[in-house]
Amino acid sequence: MTTQITSLEEYHREYAKSIEDPESFWKKEAETFHWFQPFDEVLKWNFEEPNVKWFLNGKTNITYNALDRHIAERGDKTAILWEPNDPEDTVINLSYKELLEEVCKCANALKKFGIKKGDRVVFYMPMVPELTIGVLACARIGAVHSVVFAGFSAQALSDRVNDAQAKMIICSDFNRRGSKNIPVKKVVDDALEIGCSSIENVLVHKNTGDSISWNSLKDKWWHEELDGQESYCTAEEMDSEDLLFILYTSGSTGKPKGVVHTVGGYMVYTSYSFRNVFQYQENDVYWCTADIGWITGHSYIIYGPLLSGATTVMFEGVPTYPTPARFWQICEKHKVNQFYTAPTAIRALMAYGDHLPAESDLSSIKVLGSVGEPINEEAWHWYDKHIGKGKAPIVDTWWQTETGGILISPLPGITDTKPTYASYPLPGIQTVLVDVEGNELKENNVEGLLCIKHPWPSMIRTTYGDHERCKNVYFSAFKGMYFTGDGARKDDEGRIRVIGRVDDVINVSGHRMGTAEVENAINEHPAVVESAIVGYPHDIKGQGIYAFVITQGVAKDDTTRKEILEVVKREIGPIAKPDKIQFVNGLPKTRSGKIMRRILRKIASNEADSLGDISTLLNPECVKEVIDGNRTLI
Ligand code: PRX
Repeated sequence: MTTQITSLEEYHREYAKSIEDPESFWKKEAETFHWFQPFDEVLKWNFEEPNVKWFLNGKTNITYNALDRHIAERGDKTAILWEPNDPEDTVINLSYKELLEEVCKCANALKKFGIKKGDRVVFYMPMVPELTIGVLACARIGAVHSVVFAGFSAQALSDRVNDAQAKMIICSDFNRRGSKNIPVKKVVDDALEIGCSSIENVLVHKNTGDSISWNSLKDKWWHEELDGQESYCTAEEMDSEDLLFILYTSGSTGKPKGVVHTVGGYMVYTSYSFRNVFQYQENDVYWCTADIGWITGHSYIIYGPLLSGATTVMFEGVPTYPTPARFWQICEKHKVNQFYTAPTAIRALMAYGDHLPAESDLSSIKVLGSVGEPINEEAWHWYDKHIGKGKAPIVDTWWQTETGGILISPLPGITDTKPTYASYPLPGIQTVLVDVEGNELKENNVEGLLCIKHPWPSMIRTTYGDHERCKNVYFSAFKGMYFTGDGARKDDEGRIRVIGRVDDVINVSGHRMGTAEVENAINEHPAVVESAIVGYPHDIKGQGIYAFVITQGVAKDDTTRKEILEVVKREIGPIAKPDKIQFVNGLPKTRSGKIMRRILRKIASNEADSLGDISTLLNPECVKEVIDGNRTLI
């Protein structure tokens, strides 16, 4: 197992070692894993191309390390503890031995379909054990998984399938969410109808048994295909730098990009960060409430915990079904020791009152985690008082799809915590704040742009099919540094607080959304001439989506608003639907024709009094109309 830091002195010592000699530091951690062939070089890198390679020429398999390696010592230990949507339904405990068998059966089935090393397989599934099994089955045989969050639309799904040129989609018939069964296979059918020419087969897991339409040429049932398969499948020997997965995420421009993670570095870092950030002990029960459709689910439901031999809870349902006390009831039911969720969920559940968590026995909780967006002070204190009872340190973990694992976080019980601060970088992580010219701000008590100046094992390698984009987005802003897109401040003791995005990305309920992506969707409405999206402060979601829209030939009313929302739902999915739509006649623009989002952000946030100088705009006269419209909208 990777090192688990247990004291403040050790943290300082390990951090210092990791900076002085990163290669020896990570060599030691990597050597705790099973390699079919040892690596002969730890790291080769430059941030100009960029080209980053870890554990060169090492051959391994992440599922061997996450499953087979544990069988002798903890074969009967629960690997996945699955809590169903309906609390009356049966909980599933899959031991490490059972999980390995299921993964192998699925891997053998995939092979039968002709899926081989390097092929891409897209998942579009709810939070059922079969999703984890399928993902690991891909990794077992070297196929590249790409999980698409099952709330995305058919259009968004087909865009991702086509970008990845996937051979197969694995989905469910329906998804259970609270009291509703939601069609999943239907969305896949629609995506195929839009056009996914690379797809040869759709493997369908029977989840609810509701009726679905069937294409007898392509569609196959999961249970029929896995039935009778051998329960062992040899783990493919993967090069450390072979692709493990692609995960699509939004950026400031264009369509979502496929962030590529590779086997060796991702394996070493997710396990290392999991063991340290959550201080997992052998008999603990760990629960991360994220969906596997996002990076948090990949790294801290599946890989980090399983590589560390942990019991990881997977929850099928929603926080408010059948009651908004559900999270707390699950914590009591399974005696959860580490609980990891997003500020949005905390704020939403907080609103239902303090009595709900008080009705459950939460005494098992030792560590509380927060992820995905800045946690505000009120939510931090509520989480601390009502869930942690003042005894469970809160780890406010900062990271990104591109970073693969948690980079900045307190270590519970080891480093101190401060509300709203992600605090200090983990060993091996060389965070820096820079000014707009890229000068490093070395002193404390400063605000700047968050960059990382040395590679870490689980960092993004490329954006799938478009390496130039990876270079431009992350490595071109500041020479020799990875730019996160986030602004941050350091307090007088060097603790880091991540404030939020400084680019055209907004964070809605912990979900990343590109403003351009939502604008492109809105512009699909035939009467929309132009639109601009900005984020604005939202009590529960952190940021809400505010749309300024210019239309032609239609009434500027709720009917048009509804139509626009439908278009966004069709193009991206319900999560991208604007919270507010304001019709305008003009959008403030620079002389070169660029929309001045800064001004729109202020107006949407009710800060129109501090717009600053607008005289240099191409069309300053439109600003008053936009402000007036905003006031009447609210
Ligand atoms: O702005 C930061 C915010 O979420 C962004 C990354 O989003 P995504 O790739 O979807 O990954 C989310 C889960 C890791 C970051 O650029 N963010 C994430 N964690 C925090 C955060 N902002 C403040 N505090 C955090 N703890």
